[in-house]
Amino acid sequence: MPLPSKQDITDLVRDKKTKLPTLPVVMNNIIATARDKNTSARDLAGFITKDQAISARVLKIANSPYYGMSSKIDSISRAIVVIGFREVISLALATGVITSLPKNTLMDMKALWKHSIGTGFASKIILDKTGKKADESTMLIGLLHDLGKVIFSIYFPDEYAGILEKASINNQALNELEKDGMGMDHAELAGSIMEHWKFPSRIIEPIRYHHEPHTCPGKFKHMAMVLSTADFICHQAYIGNSGNQKVKKDNKILASIGMCSDDILPLTRTLKHEEHNIEYFLEAIE
Ligand SMILES: [Fe+2]
Ligand SMILES: [Fe+2]
Repeated sequence: MPLPSKQDITDLVRDKKTKLPTLPVVMNNIIATARDKNTSARDLAGFITKDQAISARVLKIANSPYYGMSSKIDSISRAIVVIGFREVISLALATGVITSLPKNTLMDMKALWKHSIGTGFASKIILDKTGKKADESTMLIGLLHDLGKVIFSIYFPDEYAGILEKASINNQALNELEKDGMGMDHAELAGSIMEHWKFPSRIIEPIRYHHEPHTCPGKFKHMAMVLSTADFICHQAYIGNSGNQKVKKDNKILASIGMCSDDILPLTRTLKHEEHNIEYFLEAIE
């Protein structure tokens, strides 16, 4: 079977006739709110509350150990007050995307989301360790960083199954096999699809460059490097499964974000201690 070309994949994103996963209608409002600073908390609560699936999940996560709140958060308006306006937007975006994607693809989706949440937690741990502050985008970027793999699995299942198998048998880097076989890797594909959904660039760019963070444009480069390192640490901690068997450690990237090789083991242990919180988050978001 011939492998798809880069053009086929680009058409998939651009061609209006292809049925890309459609986000719930309310997501357009939430994405617009993420880009524009003029929406009020009341409007945001109104948008989210209209979608029961999204609001139930946002509340479940807001009450999770990740936020460590002592009293129960029982409404979206309360969540906005307690965990923050932008944090609630990020949670709504994450749940909106995840609930719009099929649960059954050729990949083990639960393991992939667990890897993705683990990468979000690892990003936060790295930012804390290097004296930078995680912000409301940190978890969302981790959660969606491997979205391109889901899209490959849905639209090119046979071809992608071959690539995943090759990655596992030959112990080759999945993103390199994707580039050879599909013309682009999952990071670039995720970037295009999120651009199509009109996500803000602070979310898109670190994801688009997470396998080649040194090529990321200026202001998003640091987060792309943090994400790439978080991905590596999550693999080291064996949390979830990304379908990628071979993830490289890059000492130059580590140095650029103020870390060194000796930091990897303690951070991997810190992440491993968070595994129950990662599982709680996973259960809440699915
Ligand atoms: Fe990746
Ligand atoms: Fe990953």
